[in-house]
This record gives sequence, C-alpha cells and structure tokens, in this order.
Amino acid sequence: MSQGRFITLEGGEGVGKSTQLAYVRELVESFGHRVVATREPGGTPLAESIRGLLKGEAGEGMDADTELLLVFAARNEHLAKVVRPALARGDWVVCDRFTDATYAYQGMGRGLASARIESLEHWVQGELQPDLTLLLDAPVELGFERVAGRGGGYDRFEREARDFFERVREAYLHRAMAFPARFRVIDAARSPALVSADIHEVLLALHAAVRAEPEEGDRV
Ligand SMILES: Nc1ncnc2c1ncn2[C@@H]1O[C@H](COP(=O)(O)OP(=O)(O)O)[C@@H](O)[C@H]1O
Ligand SMILES: [Mg+2]
Repeated sequence: MSQGRFITLEGGEGVGKSTQLAYVRELVESFGHRVVATREPGGTPLAESIRGLLKGEAGEGMDADTELLLVFAARNEHLAKVVRPALARGDWVVCDRFTDATYAYQGMGRGLASARIESLEHWVQGELQPDLTLLLDAPVELGFERVAGRGGGYDRFEREARDFFERVREAYLHRAMAFPARFRVIDAARSPALVSADIHEVLLALHAAVRAEPEEGDRV
C-alpha cells in the first residue's frame, strides 16, 4: 500500500475553497482513492473547539502569539488523529487551509515573524508538507461580495480591515512563488465551472504521476 497524497486548498475569504473542495473530493474518488476531506483549523472535535475559540467572541483581543499557538495546537491534534493516519493507510487527504494560511494570516496579516511560524511548523509537522497546494486567487473585494452573498455574518477574521486581506493575498502569492513545485495558482475570479476545469487538469497530472510510480513491491 503506498502512502496517500496530501492536497491543500488555500486562498482568502470567499475565493471558493469550500465549493471546490467538494469537486476535488469527487474527482480524487473517481481516480479510485479513498478521500478524507477536512479543514483547518479543525478536523477533530478538539481542534474544532479551538477553531471556535479562534473565530468567536471569546477570542476578541487575543494576543497574536496566543492565536499562533492555538492554530498549531489544533494542527498538531488534526495531524496526529486524522491526517497522518489517513495518509499512512493510503487515503488521500484534501484539506481546506493549512500552514500556508498561517504564514498568510498570522504572519503577514498579524505581522508575526515568520521564524516563529517556521519553528512551530518544524515541531508539529516534521518533514510533512502538502504534495499539492491549490491557491485560489481572486481580488479581495470579489471574495467579500461572495461571502456577503453566502450569508451567515462575519467571524473575528472576516471583520478585519481590508488591508489585512490585501496582505494575506500578497503573502499567499509570495509563497506560491517560493514553492513552485507544490503550488498551483488558479484564477478564482472566474465561474465555478472554469475554476473546476483548471483543478481537473492539475489533478489529472498528479494522478498520472502517481500511477507512473513503481509499486512498493516492484522495487528491487
Ligand atoms: N467561482 C465562483 N463564482 C461565483 N460565486 C462563487 C464561486 N465559487 C464560490 N462561489 C460562491 O461564493 C460564496 C463563497 O464560496 P466558498 O466556497 O464558501 O468560499 P471560501 O470557502 O473560499 O470562503 C458561496 O456562496 C459560493 O457558492
Ligand atoms: Mg470555506
């Protein structure tokens, strides 16, 4: 049994991550893999509770380092209980946001030094990195129009000032340039069908690459 693949979806508010996650899940299942679809912060009962603390009223005025530590506490729990076991049994994991979001929101958004994030990343993840990161990129304003259309109000992050989200968008694009082997930037300002078509192409390429790998037992 070969190790599963770890796919993350990234991008700002309202770019279409949740919408496209469902598409990615169906597509990867059609390739014949079991899929665990999950999200961060969250993905386990405890990590979802931490998500509630991060996003809710209780977190109002939270120190930025507290926020960073909570994000990584939730991540550690999610990796230990869900992500690593799934990958080990050969399932593919599709995750709505991961550590790139931490660099974007807590790093560039809140202004925390990336060295702090790096040390926690190394502690919690070791060598684990996504195999593929789909960055859905769209103008901040457009994302907010979509979130407004979705209804349900705004959480502690969504109430941040517009320039916070401009920094988040820049940080994501910067990371995509820094890690080109893992990132694919997708123009998410287009219709859901066109965004899915690009994702389809990227995932077909990954599927072909995985199939071309020798099976464990074939190795001499
Ligand atoms: N490409 C798109 N064009 C127009 N509306 C979209 C598109 N993708 C998603 N939406 C809609 O915009 C809103 C936000 O999408 P969602 O997938 O929840 O974004 P995210 O998870 O990135 O915040 C939803 O109401 C969704 O139906
Ligand atoms: Mg979402």
